[in-house]
Amino acid sequence: MGDPPFAVLVVDDDPDTRENLRDILELDGYAVEGAGTAADALARDDWPRYGAVLLDRRLPDGTAEDILARLRAAAPEADVVIVTGSADVAATIAAFRLGAADYVLKPVSPDELRARLGRIAGHRRDRAALRAASAARDRALEELRATTQQLWQAARLAGVGELAASIAHELNNPLATVSLRVEGVLAKTPPDDPRRRPLEVVQGEVERMGRLVANLLNFSRAGREQVSTVDVCDEVAKTLDLTDHHLRKRGIAVGPEFAPGVPAIYADRQQLRQVFLNLVTNAADAMPAGGRLTPRVRTGTLPPAREAVVVEVTDTGVGIPPDHLPRVTDPFFTTKPEGQGTGLGLAICKRIVDQHHGALEIDSRLGEGTTVRVTLPVKNGANVAGLHAG
Ligand SMILES: Nc1ncnc2c1ncn2[C@@H]1O[C@H](COP(=O)(O)OP(=O)(O)O)[C@@H](O)[C@H]1O
Ligand SMILES: [Mg+2]
Repeated sequence: MGDPPFAVLVVDDDPDTRENLRDILELDGYAVEGAGTAADALARDDWPRYGAVLLDRRLPDGTAEDILARLRAAAPEADVVIVTGSADVAATIAAFRLGAADYVLKPVSPDELRARLGRIAGHRRDRAALRAASAARDRALEELRATTQQLWQAARLAGVGELAASIAHELNNPLATVSLRVEGVLAKTPPDDPRRRPLEVVQGEVERMGRLVANLLNFSRAGREQVSTVDVCDEVAKTLDLTDHHLRKRGIAVGPEFAPGVPAIYADRQQLRQVFLNLVTNAADAMPAGGRLTPRVRTGTLPPAREAVVVEVTDTGVGIPPDHLPRVTDPFFTTKPEGQGTGLGLAICKRIVDQHHGALEIDSRLGEGTTVRVTLPVKNGANVAGLHAG
């Protein structure tokens, strides 16, 4: 027999028969236990071990037909082989209706017993294979369901982005009109007129709306790769401008640390903005009760000795558990509730940073905070291979 044999329970009131069967079966590698009565057998608590039960048709406390139903209920995984005399064949056939798997005639021939148990072993293998296949199918279905859900969510999010862009676009004209009109009225209002101050407030707020709309349009512009020289400090500052309200509403203090003299890099501006925006929103999400966001920009190096610009986004948030750390940049890995996270943010960041031949690293301490570090090579010719100048 190929497979590791299973355990067999021999239920027979005759100790000699039990011993004989045990000898035969143990030679074949089966583990064997015995029971002298139906009650003994039913009282066992180690049923999961048994692959087969050899059940004498006539026991002191009942026939096989009497106890089969209870036996099958106690050990649904074990096949029951009835051991019977030739006079009882009709009754034995009746036992099949109650769930017996097979029968052997007394006196038991070792070869026949071997053949019966071999068949049972085959069935068990088939059943196990079927179960494994069905579990694999369930898993695949579940994965498919989850992926479909995530794709749908991503698509919906992309749709929201487009909607936001088109609304931003629509807002441009009325904003320009308000701005012009206010300017016109202001021009006609003498400096000491008490109505001047409220008008100036309106003008200031309209300008703010205009900046927001312009930023939104910039961010949502479809990502055609467009390589140019980029001032990283400038881009990080713009991202902070755009998220300023969002962060303040959440009680997050922002303290940028931009080193002086950071060189411009050769990169795709839109894509870098996307990276910074993702890092800032992740940091904000990690600080539901407020905290401190520290964006840093400084000069650094990439191995072996390439000049680079380092951008760090540090938060004082919940942190990332060590076992999640290797997975956070996987597409669709998210710990956020449905509708809030797509699990695409860091995956996109990683792809963009890779395309720029840079590096993305994450340091995190659970309960203390997280630093995501993006290192991008300065313009040197080597960093544009994967990017097509637009
Ligand atoms: N700054 C951070 N602090 C704590 N956890 C983070 C941070 N950034 C990312 N994560 C973890 O990584 C996961 C994946 O992030 P991301 O790819 O942006 O997808 P999403 O934000 O949609 O969940 C998040 O769900 C979160 O568990
Ligand atoms: Mg995110």
